[in-house]
Amino acid sequence: MTVLVTGSAGFIGANFVLDWLAASDEPIVSLDKLTYAGNLANLRSVEANSRHTFVQGDITDRELLGRLLAEHKPRAIINFAAESHVDRSIEGPEDFVQTNVVGTFRLLEAAREYYQALGENEAEQFRLLHVSTDEVYGSLAPAEPAFREDRKYEPNSPYSASKAASEHFVRAWHHTYGLPVLTTNCSNNYGPYHFPEKLIPLIIHNALSGKALPIYGDGQQVRDWLFVKDHCAAIRRVLDAGVAGETYNIGGCNEKTNLEVVHTLCDILDQERPRADGISYREQISFVRDRPGHDRRYAIDASKIERELGWVPAETFESGIRKTVLWYLDNQDWVNDITSGAYREWVSRQYQ
Ligand code: NAD
Ligand code: DAU
Repeated sequence: MTVLVTGSAGFIGANFVLDWLAASDEPIVSLDKLTYAGNLANLRSVEANSRHTFVQGDITDRELLGRLLAEHKPRAIINFAAESHVDRSIEGPEDFVQTNVVGTFRLLEAAREYYQALGENEAEQFRLLHVSTDEVYGSLAPAEPAFREDRKYEPNSPYSASKAASEHFVRAWHHTYGLPVLTTNCSNNYGPYHFPEKLIPLIIHNALSGKALPIYGDGQQVRDWLFVKDHCAAIRRVLDAGVAGETYNIGGCNEKTNLEVVHTLCDILDQERPRADGISYREQISFVRDRPGHDRRYAIDASKIERELGWVPAETFESGIRKTVLWYLDNQDWVNDITSGAYREWVSRQYQ
């Protein structure tokens, strides 16, 4: 048996591939367009692994998808491929519609044709797992209960609107065509291989480079943080035991304001790599223009996946964030390779 993983050279997709190959004997075919966010260095440690086949390609390429499915006959497809950065979606939403909406639609169509031609046993086993986000639910008021799976969708950014749209297609392909799909809605991930345009790796990178640590608005926006490997374990569990057609919220029960997160990062860096002048990295914090339409608070109620599938996160925020900072300190070459020309152009446009 084989599984097909899309978006495998990105942050979560790469962590998923590495963990899968370490934990199971099953081969992976992995597909990634290698956009600015896709990085083959994330998969370098499994380059020579005979159970891993990497294909560079686009999920909007219906013919390629058909060929890959016919050739590798996977028992499952796990779809991570997406444009994922909210700020970039505000600057240029088109790519988000193309990959997140059209790409998901093409993947569903390819999967439908493949599924309908499977024998009875293979069809019974087959699953398409679509990886989505808590951002589809919109923003919570301070005292509101955390998002449950039955929460209405209120996406506020071009990114979250494109992810919500993709989920509606996934749902419809189950309802109308009987495609056995699973959808997961996860909160903010952090950990190794996180692209340094996102808050946590950006702050670590800027701190070590002596640059300002940009906090949007008042820094009181709240996110729920989950260590990436816990997200990968949850996806494996949903794939194994989730009920086709169901959605599962995944979260870490770690609500933090952005300012708290940045203070924590500064404190760990102060211990692990103190500044030469002995002053705290907190001195580099700078409040900057807010993100347009910035969602104030996300929080996940993960009781369904815990109750029905027995998944709980292994890391606390304290243990996961320390591991993450140490990983970045040990992998400065990885960061230096990424933060080249195109990355610098993005940073200067975004924070000018
Ligand atoms: P990422 O931006 O790091 O990686 C996305 C990957 O998809 C990249 O390798 C990119 O090259 C690839 N890709 C983009 N367009 C493609 C296309 N048309 N065809 C094939 N590959 C393409 O994103 P991530 O943070 O790893 O997120 C992965 C998935 O998880 C996304 O669907 C995202 O919406 C979802 N998600 C992310 C988080 C988070 O905190 N990062 C939380 C919840 C859900
Ligand atoms: O909630 C899940 C989502 O989490 C995923 O679906 C997205 O793909 C992922 O990018 C992430 O979205 P966020 O917008 O929450 O993540 P980001 O790291 O961009 O920002 C986290 C918070 O920090 C957010 O409130 C904006 C703020 N921020 C971000 C940056 C980059 C800053 O204050 N300064 C910054 O420079």
